[in-house]
Amino acid sequence: MKQGRFITHPDLSGKKYDHPWKNKKFNSYERVFEPGEGILNVKCEFTPDPSKKLESATVRATALGIFDMFVNGMRVVNFDGDTAYADELKPGWTDYRFRVFEFEYDITALCVSGGRTGSSRKNIFTAEVSPGWWTGRISFGFYGSLAPAFCGEIELRYRDGSAEILASGEDWDASICGPVMRADIWDGEYYDATVPEPSVVPEAHDWKKAVAFSGFGGRIEPVAGPRIRSCGRMMLDPVSAVIHSGKTGNGTEFGKINILSKKTGDGCETAKLKPGEAMIVDFGQNMVGRPMLFLNAPRGTRVEVFFAEMLNDSGDPGRGNDGPEGSLYIKNYRSATARLVYIASGTDEVEFYYPTHTFFGFRYIEIRADADLSVINVRGDVIRSDCPEGGDFECDVPEVNRLFSNIVWGMRGNYLSVPTDCPQRDERLGWTGDTQIFCGAASYIADIRGFMDKWLTDAAYSQEGFGGAYADVIPRVFTSEGGNAAWGDAPLVVTDRLYMMYGDKEAVRKNYAPMEAYMNYLSRFGLEGPNTAYGDWLNYDVTDKRYIAVCYYAHDAELMAKFSHILGLRDREEHYMELREKIVGHYRDTYIKDGKLTVGTQTGYLLALAFNLVQPELRESFIAALKEKIVSNGYTLSTGFVGTGILNQTLSKVGLDGLAYSLLMQDRDPSWLYSVKQGATTVWERWNSYTKERGFGDVGMNSFNHYAYGAVAEWLFAGVCGIRPDPMDPGFRSFILKPTPDFRTAGEMPEGGRRMRIAKASYTPPCAGGEKIESGWEIYGGKTVYTFRIPEGLSAKVSLVPGDGAMKVNGLDVTPEELGASNVLGRTEFRLGSGRYRIEIQNPNKI
Ligand code: BGC
Repeated sequence: MKQGRFITHPDLSGKKYDHPWKNKKFNSYERVFEPGEGILNVKCEFTPDPSKKLESATVRATALGIFDMFVNGMRVVNFDGDTAYADELKPGWTDYRFRVFEFEYDITALCVSGGRTGSSRKNIFTAEVSPGWWTGRISFGFYGSLAPAFCGEIELRYRDGSAEILASGEDWDASICGPVMRADIWDGEYYDATVPEPSVVPEAHDWKKAVAFSGFGGRIEPVAGPRIRSCGRMMLDPVSAVIHSGKTGNGTEFGKINILSKKTGDGCETAKLKPGEAMIVDFGQNMVGRPMLFLNAPRGTRVEVFFAEMLNDSGDPGRGNDGPEGSLYIKNYRSATARLVYIASGTDEVEFYYPTHTFFGFRYIEIRADADLSVINVRGDVIRSDCPEGGDFECDVPEVNRLFSNIVWGMRGNYLSVPTDCPQRDERLGWTGDTQIFCGAASYIADIRGFMDKWLTDAAYSQEGFGGAYADVIPRVFTSEGGNAAWGDAPLVVTDRLYMMYGDKEAVRKNYAPMEAYMNYLSRFGLEGPNTAYGDWLNYDVTDKRYIAVCYYAHDAELMAKFSHILGLRDREEHYMELREKIVGHYRDTYIKDGKLTVGTQTGYLLALAFNLVQPELRESFIAALKEKIVSNGYTLSTGFVGTGILNQTLSKVGLDGLAYSLLMQDRDPSWLYSVKQGATTVWERWNSYTKERGFGDVGMNSFNHYAYGAVAEWLFAGVCGIRPDPMDPGFRSFILKPTPDFRTAGEMPEGGRRMRIAKASYTPPCAGGEKIESGWEIYGGKTVYTFRIPEGLSAKVSLVPGDGAMKVNGLDVTPEELGASNVLGRTEFRLGSGRYRIEIQNPNKI
């Protein structure tokens, strides 16, 4: 930005922003979504110099709040070749105490200019700004609660080399107006299509001179990280639609909806609705974004759209239902109104509407109108931060495939500007525990470098004013200090992940000082580690919170020693190694008595083994104890966020691969496949967020799109299919292929257990120029056939479970010597260069 200044409307200036639904408690159909008077719009009319030929017109802009811009009625978008991309929900969420992102667009094609004719042609530029993350309810007033503001400039360049800049200032106009009457991330959007677009009919609105806005003390920076975009490829069409009116009895308190008609498949949502009727549309997939509505209705018709992740299953409040059987279950959105109101313009043509100032987490929508309404078409438009997806997993167990798909959809929905806990209720916050637990899985599914690099900068800002403590929610919105075990430590874990997956030393260098500041903050607690607010969140078996903090402190020190080593900071490396030794000593003195762990939960053992805290001579007994914990628990887990995040990864690390398979394939409560069996299409917040047996879980916190437990996807890639970064050479130019097929012996198999016989995964490391690494295996006919693809320029250290007989590589018998193979801890290891390989090995254990 060269000259633009923040401006706002004089009536908003200096005032706290008012939230109409501020203190409302639970959501309900009954809550009225009232119109406002419009949102902040700013306007600049400009006429390119008629005596010159216009070469280009560029707009650079940002806003405090979510903004959208229009030139002569056309939305300002980006072009990638022939494809137009709108950046949604600009400028995204940063720590607004320190920075906000600027966007730049070429608007030459949208402008009219006099050109050679010499006539003067006026252009109208407008921008609309809603509260967004800046001052919407989601900000918790942390950035000052002031009204939205806009900052921008239009640069006109002429063929003769001259240029002029029209910068936002007090000579621009401002109005509280427009069809977007009200908008809030949590609450939704109220759009009145009878109100003229300010950039098309500016004279329909009351404009005042803008005033300078001084409530922002940060910097304007070029946008960093992936943009927030709609993804056409992921667009969902409804799978079924039900029209209902009123309710009938079914023996429960709420009864059930009275169904008038039900359709499935293509075009099922095309219908005519009368007042008093409602249509529930099922997209078949819990998603995040917005509906695109194609409608027709008389002018002034109020069309209302409600959202839900689940339907009430019985009408019985004893099962957690909040309405009749078949109706939307909306109580778990808590105070988020999550609603759309669209006032029809009544045009003869199809009215097309999608909100641009909010987003929703939903699988179902319900449409109602107060006059006859033709629903022509409805689509589910997925909005997310555009991290390129390049990881896939598939196996011969359909439920596991569903689980993987649920995890991917969870990532799409929760990587939206910031890594969030959930995308639907009155949170949608960058909870750091969730972030670090899931980042391993995420880093295989998509390229998360830019996304996390941006987040880590906000992480560093979160420490300012809090003595170095990383916030529990980043970008920070809470005044509580933070620095809680497994939450506050997240930036260290994420930095390590970026280093391992991408060889990103720059991430280590950039974040080193903030991470040191965090370690300094922790040093005030002696050897006790971070604060202990959350423990093993949502577990089935409580692990001592202080224990978790000490474990994480040791892990932090180990990571810091590693980072110091990477940066060649020998003194610091030594310092952190010594610190780690002290913490580990303290850990052993406090928590190991007579060779046994006093915190004997699954999570307790997992942390001990994952972070290498136990004396070498006790390691085997700890592994045996962990195994016993799981087996005696009927091959089910009892872990919460902290334990689940490292569960199967750690089992594989200590050689309990078979047990990891047993947990993965378990479908009793609690387990990953349990929610799949209950109908999940995304990963749930709780193992029992919904059960067919008992209904809905505790509504106080019951998200059906919470990715944390999806951390197990990391193990699907790195354990099952064995695609791993090489710790000695991170970044995947040279990597490890260590697949671990399901070789459970009969004794290891739980009763009724199934064997996975086929699995394959692919991962696209950024260093491979778009090429995929592939690793798969198939167990049949007494042998295992591995298939690998190593992209051009990459090589892999392959590590396989040896078989009973000879090995065939691409059809030829090969001896270990010919491969240059060595036996390392019971596995055959050798190197392969780029190419495709099919390796056959006779199975061990007569499988
Ligand atoms: C969030 C969690 C988060 C937690 C902190 C919850 O409300 O949804 O996922 O990590 O608070 O314990």
